[in-house]
Amino acid sequence: TENHLRHMESLATLPSGARKIPQLNAMILGEAMASEENDLVYPSEEFSLQAHVPRPAKYLEMYKRSVEDPAGFWSDIASEFYWEQKWGQQVYSENLDVRKGTVNIEWFKGGITNICYNCLDRNVESGNGDKVALYWEGNDPGFDGSLTYKQLLAQVCQLANYLKDVGVKKGDAVVIYLPMLMELPIAMLACARIGAVHSVVFAGFSAESLAQRIMDCKPKVVLTSNAVRRGAKVIGLKDIVDAALLESAKNGASVDICLTYENKSAMTRESTNWKERRDIWWQDVVPKYPATCDVEWVDAEDPLFLLYTSGSTGKPKGVLHTTGGYMVYTGTTFKYAFDYKPSDVYWCTADCGWITGHSYVTYGPLLNGATCLAPTYPAAGRCWEIVDKYKVTIFYTAPTLVRSLMRAGDEYVTRYSRKSLRVLGSVGEPINPSAWRWFFNVVGESRCPISDTWWQTETGGFMITPLPGAWPQKPGSATYPFFGVQPVIVDEKGNEIEGECSGYLCIKHSWPSAFRTLYGDHERYETTYFKPFPGYYFTGDGCSRDNDGYYWLTGRVDDVINVSGHRIGTAEVESALVSHPQCAEAAVVGVEHEVKGQGIYVFVTLVEGVPCTEELRKSLIQTVRSQIGAFAAPDKIHWAPGLPKTRSGKIMRRILRKIASRQLGELGDTSTLADPSVVDQLIALADV
Ligand code: PRX
Repeated sequence: TENHLRHMESLATLPSGARKIPQLNAMILGEAMASEENDLVYPSEEFSLQAHVPRPAKYLEMYKRSVEDPAGFWSDIASEFYWEQKWGQQVYSENLDVRKGTVNIEWFKGGITNICYNCLDRNVESGNGDKVALYWEGNDPGFDGSLTYKQLLAQVCQLANYLKDVGVKKGDAVVIYLPMLMELPIAMLACARIGAVHSVVFAGFSAESLAQRIMDCKPKVVLTSNAVRRGAKVIGLKDIVDAALLESAKNGASVDICLTYENKSAMTRESTNWKERRDIWWQDVVPKYPATCDVEWVDAEDPLFLLYTSGSTGKPKGVLHTTGGYMVYTGTTFKYAFDYKPSDVYWCTADCGWITGHSYVTYGPLLNGATCLAPTYPAAGRCWEIVDKYKVTIFYTAPTLVRSLMRAGDEYVTRYSRKSLRVLGSVGEPINPSAWRWFFNVVGESRCPISDTWWQTETGGFMITPLPGAWPQKPGSATYPFFGVQPVIVDEKGNEIEGECSGYLCIKHSWPSAFRTLYGDHERYETTYFKPFPGYYFTGDGCSRDNDGYYWLTGRVDDVINVSGHRIGTAEVESALVSHPQCAEAAVVGVEHEVKGQGIYVFVTLVEGVPCTEELRKSLIQTVRSQIGAFAAPDKIHWAPGLPKTRSGKIMRRILRKIASRQLGELGDTSTLADPSVVDQLIALADV
């Protein structure tokens, strides 16, 4: 804390690093200005003046209090939410140090609240009942809809009443396997309303993965839909659920009810396989229930949801989040990181099957009474058409989407106005500076700050993020920690390193939305996250901090390559490659190398129409040499017409590593890929 604060303060009083940045001096004194210098991108004066946090000095003042007096800082913020009963004397208690006993984190314990009440009833009661809560935009133009806060509340109550009626009680798990229909956030909120613990499984997971999750958390009820359309394809979700339920029943986890939403645009009832008694059509029962439903008041530390995420080893981990701290933190981070104002229209392209869809499609925005656009699967090319249609002001997406849009060419962007946009956001992986610049210059017309939010399923909410308007940005840096977050960079031995450095990113002390355990396996929680560097939460990410105190995430440390003793972040090499004008996308993996230990193997996707030539190969290698150093020069360039990505857009490096090391028989499950045929194309090009 002290080091960090000292660093921040020194930045405010402008010693060493910051001294070379005249505009920063001006900003700290309160003079925002729009310009770009020394790789710093300044918010416009107009933007800064209207922002919640308009200057570095304001951030520093708030940050300082948040780490010096977390109890005071967070209880002031928590008081802005509705509590049926205030929390106890102690605002929080924590032990992150395995050497001192069991790891334990609690916030607002004894406080009684309900997050669904805070998302819906509170907004309706304050006069926002007729404001649109959710816009829905379908696969094809013309398929759209919306729900006001009042309508959303009514639908949530009907489902909540149904769930209660079939015996779902406070603390029971409910598995939700739904595509991005409105029914997905409705289902999450209905569970929250009655104190049930939802576990959303992304509707792109296989039957086996779904079964695994069902067997772990043993729900009484599964909520699903008969089918979903993705582009021209119809995916029979109900068949997947049937197979999963068969498998889990064999293993002692039988589910009583499978409530199935009939998605008429994808599949009829007649062609849906059905098991009488267990399977119930959503539309046949839910609308018959009353549209009001009493809230189940819960303790701040009662579980809100489980979300499974993959670890580097073993079965998926059930990340458990509780109610109070998660509510306060997601609501607050949403407000500040996107500089949210009541007139905004917010669009996050994430699916509720992932943490981003939990915290920043559903809970964070609704807690703020925001109008959100919920995505289904519109073709990427329709992005800007949709932005114009709904006058989207805040657009939050993943770098992979930015890069694919960038690849399609500027004309797909510039033919739309996009003048409503005022804040852009990025999440999921480090955004390389060239994609950042394209997003900033072309999409945002150099007008919209980019909030590059670094966080994880485990952290529940944003941890390191720009506050648009407060700081000049550096393309590719997530900038500074959010209030109350104390990042530290440690070396191999777990020693904190100060100032400008690179190492393992850890977090000191808890924050309200920290995950409390891995469901049913507290030991694994401690082993994975708290034992590697005792005293800290270990993020699994590599990170560097520059001379101005900006944080630069370099990717998972499991993706770091060690070449002749040099640690090279795959993200760093990728960023260099992508800065090459003819390279659209690149993925780097380590392969065994006789002399160097590991060699750098890169998969490169070229800009449409560019041929793969020997000269280009050399020029790409040269780009890396000149941007990072000769030691980082790729050993092999593998031309890739496309990269294997999950449906959520994550590159599956596991598969690339196997291809790179020619372990073609061990590719594993490729069924979760958005386009499994990419793998065969890559194999065919392996020795070209
Ligand atoms: O490596 C970091 C990367 O995504 C990981 C967390 O993944 P997940 O739990 O699936 O959550 C994704 C959405 C929050 C992190 O350990 N990551 C996420 N956001 C960023 C990022 N890396 C760099 N910059 C980011 N903005």
